[in-house]
Amino acid sequence: MIMKIKPTILLLLLPALASAQTDGHNPTRDEIEKMHQDPKAYIAMLENPQRDIEQKPDEVIAAMDIRSGETIADIGAGSGYFALRFADHVGAIGRVYAVDINPDMIIHMNRRIRDMKIANVTTVLSTPEDPLLAEKSIDRFFVCNTWHHIPNQSRYIALLKTMLRPGGQIIIVDYYKKPLPVGPPPAMKMARSDVVDQMEKSGLKLAEEHTFLPYQYFLVFEGK
Ligand SMILES: C[S@@+](CC[C@H](N)C(=O)[O-])C[C@H]1O[C@@H](n2cnc3c(N)ncnc32)[C@H](O)[C@@H]1O
Repeated sequence: MIMKIKPTILLLLLPALASAQTDGHNPTRDEIEKMHQDPKAYIAMLENPQRDIEQKPDEVIAAMDIRSGETIADIGAGSGYFALRFADHVGAIGRVYAVDINPDMIIHMNRRIRDMKIANVTTVLSTPEDPLLAEKSIDRFFVCNTWHHIPNQSRYIALLKTMLRPGGQIIIVDYYKKPLPVGPPPAMKMARSDVVDQMEKSGLKLAEEHTFLPYQYFLVFEGK
């Protein structure tokens, strides 16, 4: 049974859940599930300015070397932490699809997109097993801290491949499967080597890897 938790209690939990955990205490599965029921707390955690210290969004974007005119789909876009940053880089002729299964995240992003007068980001309310994007429409999929949430990953990869344009990429950024001062407990994470094996079995190769993030692997896959 899922317990309801008061927003005030969740806000008290936030420091423990936020990225800047310094006491070595990772949120438990229960704490994470409770937070997922409170969009305000979840968004506050994703947008916590302290997160930038370890998430290094500007360096991640620089490493991606985004071209004007690209179409990027951010799967599990959450609050729009990356998707709205990508908007500046793909330019007026490019597009960002901000895909999420959580209607509260979609509403939050829609509000930000309207308030910031952003014209090149489209939100997509997806299903857990399908990002609901058109065939051959995407240059790069970007999946940050979300891959471990996808239920049937090999089927999902097959779908992503149909949606990629020729020469397209799938980028996975996710937590190393070991005890870390941030992120979910190791049991909820997926090992880097398992992601690489899975992609290779699906006909993709590891084309690039960036190692500047302290707690996450940053893998770039392309067709073989
Ligand atoms: C930990 S958050 C990461 C958000 C964002 N990528 C970031 O780095 O700030 C995970 C997000 O993935 C979404 N999500 C979970 N399962 C998903 C799925 N199967 N397809 C798309 N989004 C999913 C959740 O609703 C949540 O917003």
